[in-house]
Amino acid sequence: MKNIVYADNAATTPLSDHALSSMLPFFQERYGNPSAVHELGRDAHSEVEIARRAVGAAIGANINEIYFNSGGTESDNQAIVGACEHKAAKGGHIVSTEVEHAAVINTLRHLESKGHEVTLLKPDKHGSVGPEGLRAAMRPDTVLVSIMHANNVVGTILPIAELCKVAHEGGALFHTDAVQSVPSIPVNVRELKVDLLSISSHKFHGPKGAGALFVRYGTNLPPLIFGGGQEKGYRSGTENVPGIVGMAAALTEAKGKMGENSKRLAAWRDRIIEATLRIRGSALTGDPVKRLPGLASFVFEGVRESVLIVNRLSDLGICVSSGSACSASSQEAPHVLSAMGVEPALARASLRVSLSAQNTEADVEAIIEALPKVIDSLRADRNTLYGLPMG
Ligand SMILES: Cc1ncc(COP(=O)(O)O)c(C=O)c1O
Repeated sequence: MKNIVYADNAATTPLSDHALSSMLPFFQERYGNPSAVHELGRDAHSEVEIARRAVGAAIGANINEIYFNSGGTESDNQAIVGACEHKAAKGGHIVSTEVEHAAVINTLRHLESKGHEVTLLKPDKHGSVGPEGLRAAMRPDTVLVSIMHANNVVGTILPIAELCKVAHEGGALFHTDAVQSVPSIPVNVRELKVDLLSISSHKFHGPKGAGALFVRYGTNLPPLIFGGGQEKGYRSGTENVPGIVGMAAALTEAKGKMGENSKRLAAWRDRIIEATLRIRGSALTGDPVKRLPGLASFVFEGVRESVLIVNRLSDLGICVSSGSACSASSQEAPHVLSAMGVEPALARASLRVSLSAQNTEADVEAIIEALPKVIDSLRADRNTLYGLPMG
């Protein structure tokens, strides 16, 4: 494959060498089913439990509060659907935000079709919501508040501890989708006091198809998937042992290097922001300060649509995204930007650059060099093709 600069790490990350080498024995040598009682089964079982302890330790949870599954989407689904069933006696009202990932928004839509009432909080111009807005939306029948920790499109970090306090005062459970924040920024379930928290392995150099849901001890959720009763009945199906082992290895590795990585990434992010804002008609999206260390996001005047920026950068060997992997090829503006009040014409020309620990100084230079040229050339094309003025 040709040399590429990969800056779409909010969509997915390459597997780390450490995660890969931890996983390999579990494909052909140590392939037992963790439910089997023979030696190979016991071996797999004990590795799954070691991984469970490691994943719990990385977010301040106990071993009996971590349930493995297929990733962030499944975690979000189980947390939301399960919490509503668990608290059904209190009512059926859920509060969330307009900036959530599709895994949350579409689960809420499904519940709405089944009779639940959903209030989505409108974000401020940076993509955040505050405790006052949540307090005003709480009702006696609110059973669940689900608010993401860090936004996948603009990188804004939301005040989860404060929001969680408001939800608990109203007697509701609190779920946070921490798929983008673990382990880029410190996440401790005891400090945040959340009841449910979703994580996804492929966002931190672990394998795809593996994730975990933190369920605070004493919060009994019904399963989404029924069967042999694995994961203490929370998630039936033979465990993805290599995936679980790889996720734990990647998470432990990334958590250990969080301090140094986030410093380096934030410095690179800020350089990209500074350089990009020198392009005429560009603007930063998301919170200028409270944002993920590796994520820079922008909109550009005079560019018809994001996919053109992404394609032209891709032609130069640079992989970035318009905002969300799920809507990457769509001509629609990311719903997050619309919710933040970004003008439709601008929101359609958005860009997300997301870095990881595997990026280099040279990658950052390549992005900074290419971006102004790409934006200029797209504006020139647009003017020739459509005779439209920029601005
Ligand atoms: C904030 C957020 N939540 C959930 C998901 C879904 O995670 P997964 O790809 O593991 O299903 C993503 C992935 O893009 C995400 O960014």
